[in-house]
Amino acid sequence: MIRSVISGFGHAFPKRIVTNKELEETIDTNDAWIIQRTGIKQRYVAGEGETTASLGEEAGRKALDRAGITSDDLDFIIVATTTPDNTFPATAVDIQNRLGMTHGAAFDVQAVCSGFIFALTTADTYIKSGMAKNILVIGAETMSRLMDWEDRTTCVLFGDGSGAVVLSAHQGDGTTADRGILTTHLRSDGSHKEKLYVDGGPSSTQTVGHLRMQGRDVFKHAVGMITDVIEDAFEATSMTAEDVDWFIPHQANKRIIDASAKKLNIPPEKVVINVDQTGNTSAGSIPIALSQAAESGRLEKGQMILLEAMGGGFTWGSVFLRW
Ligand code: UT7
Repeated sequence: MIRSVISGFGHAFPKRIVTNKELEETIDTNDAWIIQRTGIKQRYVAGEGETTASLGEEAGRKALDRAGITSDDLDFIIVATTTPDNTFPATAVDIQNRLGMTHGAAFDVQAVCSGFIFALTTADTYIKSGMAKNILVIGAETMSRLMDWEDRTTCVLFGDGSGAVVLSAHQGDGTTADRGILTTHLRSDGSHKEKLYVDGGPSSTQTVGHLRMQGRDVFKHAVGMITDVIEDAFEATSMTAEDVDWFIPHQANKRIIDASAKKLNIPPEKVVINVDQTGNTSAGSIPIALSQAAESGRLEKGQMILLEAMGGGFTWGSVFLRW
């Protein structure tokens, strides 16, 4: 059986860091409230010349270098983003061009904060079917450009950044001892649209719009949805929380992460958290956290890594893989 193994990883941030203290100067908020309710201390904010494509390109190049391949070896580039630089063409084809790739195909996936999980699942399906050998999967966002910077209930929560992985085809035995992605689970439910959405778009307002969120309602659903798709991953692999070496969740809010880990009986020392440094980077969040954990040497070959996300739509999903 063909398995999709992560053969390279990388991440990139804009230059500018905006601290909670800095936000105190422009809106009615305070460092203590933001830390207590979310765990966030700072976020990166894109400046002039920094775009979703430029951040995605930088993360993508690092992932290709680590995998020891070039864009010549790629079959597809899949970019998860909810903040494309243009409505079209897709950010993925811009990155394809920046990487000098003129063969294969590149396209975007839109599932907001769950985007990377959806993109990774799509890439895994191509690889398992034999249609592709190497796929660059990128989560890249400039969420700062969707913010209403006068709305304290949202603008303190989000940040910009990008993470990327190269998925490569490896021959496995078809057992859970194989390296690579062992199971993926995707869900969505459009009836929750009003709880987290952008109030604009080409065919509605002909503007980009701003992110709007009923935070308390999102919070209420988050833990249940996250733990549901993780239970699905455990059932599909006949594994339990005890088999998880690293839990790398979507980084929206430390309270949601803590509550999910507690409900699943995953101890805090196995949870990768960077939301304090990055804020919620939407589709960027999981690959950034994964790349940072791998770069720091924490992830060891053969370990079980559990990824999950939940976001606008609602969309939610999990990926369970052996490093
Ligand atoms: O990927 C999924 C994306 N989204 C999420 O995961 C977000 C999920 N939700 C959350 O993380 C939390 O609901 C928030 C962090 C957004 C809010 O935390 P909360 O504990 O649910 O607070 P709340 O919305 O109930 O607001 C409590 C109070 C309110 O004041 P009153 O009505 O009690 O007087 C808010 O107006 O806090 C006020 N508030 C703020 N105060 C200072 C809201 N935003 C701020 C702020 N600074 N930035």
